[in-house]
Amino acid sequence: MSVHSRGQRVTVPQLMAYKGSRKIAALTAYIAPIARLLDEAVDMILVGDSTAMVGYALPDTLSITADTLAAHAAAVVRATEKACVIVDMPFGSYQQSPQQAFAQAASMIAASGVSGVKLEGGRVLADTTRFLVERGIPVLAHVGLMPQYMNTMGGFKAQGMNAAAAQRILADAQAHAQAGAFGVVLEGISEPLAREITAALEIPTIGIGASPACDGQILVTEDILGLSGEHIPKFAQKFGDAAQVIRQAAHDYAQSVRQETFPTLDHCFGVRRKG
Ligand code: KIV
Repeated sequence: MSVHSRGQRVTVPQLMAYKGSRKIAALTAYIAPIARLLDEAVDMILVGDSTAMVGYALPDTLSITADTLAAHAAAVVRATEKACVIVDMPFGSYQQSPQQAFAQAASMIAASGVSGVKLEGGRVLADTTRFLVERGIPVLAHVGLMPQYMNTMGGFKAQGMNAAAAQRILADAQAHAQAGAFGVVLEGISEPLAREITAALEIPTIGIGASPACDGQILVTEDILGLSGEHIPKFAQKFGDAAQVIRQAAHDYAQSVRQETFPTLDHCFGVRRKG
């Protein structure tokens, strides 16, 4: 059985208490070296199912498995001490019934040591949120643009752009809040709607392509590092150029190998030095 450090880690109740007093900064991470570097800076790390697209070059998030996400989540928990780590429930692993969701969430938590799970879905999943929370599993709901619904939404499109659609998303967020979710991710929705939902809920909203008024923000780390290729989504911003650092290091290494300046005998074992 694994033992997870619980020392100074931000807890779910602490995240909830930040509403109205300070903004929540969150990023995604899938692997230990990145998680280790984010840990000091952010309040929450999400092991998102976006790893399907970002880490595995898959076209969407639909085919990643719970075992794969749990393995990434375990690595992120082991590499961090401070941030609250939350894992995404993958598509197909929780929508059938609250009981299915509980079994899946409990097994991912046991395997990884995360502090809670995120699930995508509107009002229809509020009963699932209640079932999990009442049995000890913190839930972060995700409404608006839900990548797991790409086939019913017809792609990755901004949501809530007319009054009726906006009312439905507000009702979705309220239903999860009433069911006990500790927060709601608002993705790809109209700015006034995100502002309205944030004002209406007592739990924090975490925006991505939503509004500066949200109680917190989350982005995919590879987007802020310039590791997502040429296209940066409208809602993201490049805060650093890790791509240039990696490209240059790889180039310098390859050149050193070809020019025979690396390795030197200093990098070798059992060297017989003359004299
Ligand atoms: O999977 C993910 O990374 C997410 C965030 C972008 C909110 O759901």
